[in-house]
Amino acid sequence: MALTAISLLCFVALLPFPGLGLPADSGDLKQMYIKVTVTNHFANMDVSYPTTVSKGIPMFGVLNHLQDTNKSLNINKSFGIYLESVNGLAGSTENRTYWELLSKKYNSITRLNVGIGCYQPQKNENFIMNFTTWD
Ligand SMILES: *[C@@H]1O[C@H](CO)[C@@H](O)[C@H](O)[C@H]1NC(C)=O
Ligand SMILES: *[C@@H]1O[C@H](CO)[C@@H](O)[C@H](O)[C@H]1NC(C)=O
Ligand SMILES: *[C@@H]1O[C@H](CO)[C@@H](O)[C@H](O)[C@H]1NC(C)=O
Ligand SMILES: *[C@@H]1O[C@H](CO)[C@@H](O)[C@H](O)[C@H]1NC(C)=O
Repeated sequence: MALTAISLLCFVALLPFPGLGLPADSGDLKQMYIKVTVTNHFANMDVSYPTTVSKGIPMFGVLNHLQDTNKSLNINKSFGIYLESVNGLAGSTENRTYWELLSKKYNSITRLNVGIGCYQPQKNENFIMNFTTWD
């Protein structure tokens, strides 16, 4: 709940930025290509969902758009740093597993340090949801 509230605030705070480009005089929002990848090394899974979205859209908007357009992707999100579940598979404290959010740009991979509600992907970015463990 708290995370959701924070993320919504974050979304609202981003609104005045030009990136979100509220179409004042043209309804012509710039589009960009991004790729969302779901990987799970334990299940030998690596599926990519390429898509085109409006520039400046926050990550949760991208994920909602993907879910709406492709029924094979199902994300249960808390809009926090970690995702609750992807395609029905949830992280677990018992197994020390979680969905790690990574961003790959120009072949360098970084870990997200903000929730997906706040995170604005860049064009050509590869957003990775990696099922992994902590210890
Ligand atoms: C959904 O995404 C998968 C993986 O990218 C792809 O193989 C499939 O064709 C997509 N389905 C639709 C309806 O776009
Ligand atoms: C999504 O998360 C909620 C709360 O944890 C849970 O009740 C629900 O079953 C989950 N849905 C899916 C599809 O994983
Ligand atoms: C823990 O991992 C085992 C083996 O993969 C799985 O059967 C079990 O459902 C997992 N527990 C949770 C809470 O996800
Ligand atoms: C994804 O998780 C697996 C399993 O923990 C790990 O081996 C791999 O390095 C991770 N991928 C990235 C890009 O960090």
